[in-house]
Amino acid sequence: MLDYHDKTAHTYRSVRMTSHRIDWDNPPKPFKLYPEHFPRIALDAKVPSHRFVMLVGGISAQKSYPGVTYALRTNPSAGALYPTEAYVQIRNEEGFEDGIYHVSPFENALVRLSDLNENEGVETFLHVKKIKGFIFLFSALYYRSSWKYRTRAFRYCLLDTGHMIGTLEASCLLFKRDYRICYTLDKEDLNALFAFGNEEFFLSSVIVGKEDETSSPQTLKTVLVSTDGTGRFEADLRIEEAYRATCMLRVRQAQSAMPFFAFDRERWAQAIWKRRSIRDFAQKPLLQEQFFEAVRFATEPIPSDCDESVDLYAVVNRVSGMEQGVWKAGKYVQKGDFSKDAGYLCLEQALGEESGVTFFLVGDDAQNYQAMMQKAGIIGHRLYVSATYLGFGCSGIGAYYDDEVKAFLQCKGMILYAISIGY
Ligand SMILES: Cc1cc2nc3c(=O)[nH]c(=O)nc-3n(C[C@H](O)[C@H](O)[C@H](O)COP(=O)(O)O)c2cc1C
Repeated sequence: MLDYHDKTAHTYRSVRMTSHRIDWDNPPKPFKLYPEHFPRIALDAKVPSHRFVMLVGGISAQKSYPGVTYALRTNPSAGALYPTEAYVQIRNEEGFEDGIYHVSPFENALVRLSDLNENEGVETFLHVKKIKGFIFLFSALYYRSSWKYRTRAFRYCLLDTGHMIGTLEASCLLFKRDYRICYTLDKEDLNALFAFGNEEFFLSSVIVGKEDETSSPQTLKTVLVSTDGTGRFEADLRIEEAYRATCMLRVRQAQSAMPFFAFDRERWAQAIWKRRSIRDFAQKPLLQEQFFEAVRFATEPIPSDCDESVDLYAVVNRVSGMEQGVWKAGKYVQKGDFSKDAGYLCLEQALGEESGVTFFLVGDDAQNYQAMMQKAGIIGHRLYVSATYLGFGCSGIGAYYDDEVKAFLQCKGMILYAISIGY
């Protein structure tokens, strides 16, 4: 997988030599809408179980430019292209009929794709016993992102899906529900069950419910129906190959501990809903305790069946009480003012230079690439939500000069993601 990551690295030269013309007049559709005859459950913010689902990628704001209005969501997305789709199996949950649903943020509704009887379910694809509760399944419609970012888009599909899991995690913490991320999925079989063509593929699932050890449902007999989710589609065979090459997990290490973040419930709910990417930093320093609190939450355990290690390097630009420099796990790797370097490394984006702190997330396990990249997205989401909760700003940065970041940090492995926080 190092091969895919290497081949999609940005270099100073590659970003200037690209011949790719973005077809701005023909963007892919940002919403997958099933035909009207599929029954729907309208989500009602006053019903707690509905609110719990609405926070997972729901539309939380609108942005208007002359002639166009964009929907913004609880999850950030590279280029606001939103390749991630969510599906959910629901069993024995108040406020819902049992069934398999597509989560439709545009309609603020769940679209029923299939009934669910006692003895059938998607559990077999996750190799678990019967789940009473929710099983979320996350997929990517990669063309939404490759339309603009070409082959590098597979990285963004994974990071974006990590952010989507992050919205679910934040909602679980709000509603005090335990959850477990499962990357061990029979993905090809699930893709077939949901009647996906090559344009859409599953990446992960999250169980929010109790496992009934005494009962193992059978595989669903019905094949579901899919619908066009992008309007236009151009295949990128390198993305499809990268997906297939990384579907199988190799040596796995599970994490069962839950994260902890002490929060005021109302403020936390607001932070999930109000989260937004900062566009410009005013360059006011962060407080040292704000930096440590955001890092503490970002590095709390993430319960999953494949916990890849991801290192967090912090380029400390402006934090009162802290020296400038590159900081990792409580120690400085280098001291000095590297703010200009951080800006340059993020493809000359001011966000990298003008932040309080610019993080680089580094991983080195090419074996479980899908799990590792999604974990980077989850960490990114924790930084967003905790920054919003603590009153400062955050932005994901998917564009950086990969090899130059590595040389700057003097590290091996892969640069998975960059994130800036600050005022
Ligand atoms: C994986 C990822 C990469 C991103 N990369 C950049 C970036 O390089 N530069 C930038 O200004 N914003 C970046 N963003 C932020 C998006 O532009 C932003 O999430 C999107 O426009 C939606 O706006 P919102 O986050 O305020 O809802 C990124 C977000 C994600 C999730």
